[in-house]
Amino acid sequence: MTNPLRSPGDRRLPRVPEPCALVVFGATGDLARKKLIPAVYDLANRGLLPAGFVLLGFARRDWGHGDFEQVARTAAQKGARTEFRESTWQRLSDSIKFLPGSFDDDAAFDTLAATLADLDATHGTMGNAAFYLSIPPAAFPVVLKQMQRTGMADNSECRAWRRVVVEKPFGHDLASSRELNDLVDDVFTAQDVFRIDHYLGKETVQNLMALRFANTLFEPIWNSHHVDSVQITMAEDVGIGTRAAFYEETGAARDVLQNHLLQLLALTAMEEPVGFDAESLRTEKRKVLGALKPPVDLAAHAVRGQYDQGWLAGERVQAYRAEEGVAADSRTETYAAVRLEIETRRWAGVPFYLRTGKRLPRRVTEIAVVFRKAPHLPFAKTDTEELGANQLVVRVQPDEGVTLRFGSKVPGTVMEVRDVAMDFQYGEAFTEASPEAYERLLLDVLLGDASLFPRNEEVEQSWRVIDPIEQFWAEEGEPELYRAGEWGPKGADTMLAREGRCWRRP
Ligand code: BG6
Repeated sequence: MTNPLRSPGDRRLPRVPEPCALVVFGATGDLARKKLIPAVYDLANRGLLPAGFVLLGFARRDWGHGDFEQVARTAAQKGARTEFRESTWQRLSDSIKFLPGSFDDDAAFDTLAATLADLDATHGTMGNAAFYLSIPPAAFPVVLKQMQRTGMADNSECRAWRRVVVEKPFGHDLASSRELNDLVDDVFTAQDVFRIDHYLGKETVQNLMALRFANTLFEPIWNSHHVDSVQITMAEDVGIGTRAAFYEETGAARDVLQNHLLQLLALTAMEEPVGFDAESLRTEKRKVLGALKPPVDLAAHAVRGQYDQGWLAGERVQAYRAEEGVAADSRTETYAAVRLEIETRRWAGVPFYLRTGKRLPRRVTEIAVVFRKAPHLPFAKTDTEELGANQLVVRVQPDEGVTLRFGSKVPGTVMEVRDVAMDFQYGEAFTEASPEAYERLLLDVLLGDASLFPRNEEVEQSWRVIDPIEQFWAEEGEPELYRAGEWGPKGADTMLAREGRCWRRP
């Protein structure tokens, strides 16, 4: 019987995926241990995994099933968001398998293909499988070709689904991302490809859409008539940790700007989608990215920096060039800031300032919409000296919420106006804790919901913007050094100061 309180379109009831296997390539790596396995555990703990579910790890380790189970258990205990329960683990551990093998080992992939068929019989996975490429980008082609050779990616004959999850970075530039996209599309059908940008899985990022499109308050002023500029910041206090090999090849612009920050920009600037299905949402984001103009004056509007030694939280930290695995004369940027414009009627002339960096004073991600100043102030000049621009700040992390900054009269006999802040905090307004980004996105992959996954056109449009910047930097000398624990290189401040603006200090 249908529940009279729920209409058929009501999506509040949790949805549980169909039986399936989740195959993780690179199952012993950092991402798998820190994010993927804990996310699988959290889903199991919330009752969101189907009865016929198998987590199958594949990696170049001489491990038996028990070893992987132990590693996975420790990973879940350390990294899970929800409470660790022995009963949940017991149920899940029966579904954890491991296959050793290197990516060029045909026999290992033949075994994997045979194992997937067996799992259907032994665990009732119904032939469904999602393949997670948690591996260095250089290994994508060989693994994809192995999947093609063994027919693992082929769902044309059976009634099962086969999906692939590709971790960023999607390529190194536009040309290589096109090559990668061609290869992936050759092996899997487009609707079965899930490109992960974990920022889209963050609750606060999805709230941007609620904020803009569920309210009447903001949309009328969300345009160049009222908005002076937009600042998007993703700052980290950490350095590069043990990822020197990856980071030396990548740098801040490819690691964060090309994906996380441009996706945040797209959600901030897009038009209202006709629905929140994958097609409608991705279409609107793609239009914004397509209308983005790469900086013309690159010397003035693209700034890069690299952290020097300094102090953070009372501790001395070393320079990027002194990190293990980093070349002593490395020119890789650990900080990138750009000024972009969107060529649409809504945004014409409004600068979007994007910045990201490591070893900055603190970890914070936010989107600040800075409004134009009032055209006329009927106060004495001295009364409004401490009045800044009105701002709406979406605090993505870690202090999740939204702040509205506006002027208010200081109590007293004179009409003095000063900035005040009105705050919404997730922690205070809601009792439910937010799911982790990977928890949400993994569930979406298993459910086949691609709305929070960028389509390849979005990825390519993003490279179109980043490529000229990277080329300019490659030809130009060195990144500017900034002291660890400070807000990036001086050049980034100059970029805004030239236009009479300054960065927010989050
Ligand atoms: C990853 C980058 O995509 O995002 C890392 O490769 C970065 O360099 C990380 O540290 C930050 O993610 P979060 O969710 O902690 O902000």
